[in-house]
Amino acid sequence: MVNLPVKPVVLLGFMGSGKSTLGKQLAALLGWGFIDLDRFIETLENKTIPEIFSQDGEEAFRKIESMALQKVLNYNCQVIAIGGGAPCQPENLNLIKEKSQSVYLKISEAQLATRLAYSNTPRPLLNGKSESETQIFIRDLLAARELFYNQADIIIESDVITADMIASRL
Ligand code: S3P
Repeated sequence: MVNLPVKPVVLLGFMGSGKSTLGKQLAALLGWGFIDLDRFIETLENKTIPEIFSQDGEEAFRKIESMALQKVLNYNCQVIAIGGGAPCQPENLNLIKEKSQSVYLKISEAQLATRLAYSNTPRPLLNGKSESETQIFIRDLLAARELFYNQADIIIESDVITADMIASRL
């Protein structure tokens, strides 16, 4: 931690991987600020994420997400939790690689499925899916997204990740 850079730390990973919870804890540990990209977008747009998806569509959301990401990556000494789809656009990933230290919170598929089944966070991509449809959806989407997630600077693979574990790898 002695050589901790000032450039932001970006936490990335699938929905339900604990980015926001761990991000807040890590920021407190480092004495840094914390930005949750989805909350940042909601403030910018004055709409919730589900409202953006239902009123404007996913494509519009992705454009807003890229724009918001560009903004927050300019702030130093911040831990930034980003939505599960944010690093999966090549231009976003390039920017993350250039401007931050990125950490992939790699949680098993089974653990993600359990967490998402019990989560109260509304997630438009999971809307209207049965339990078995959700499981297949998670498996397929995770397989596609890992190509991007695996390019993070640091990969922490565990179903029980703590802020201390992340801090010790920075
Ligand atoms: C999304 C993940 C969500 C949110 C949006 C889309 C995704 O964030 O950005 O619903 O594409 O995986 P979390 O990863 O914090 O759930």
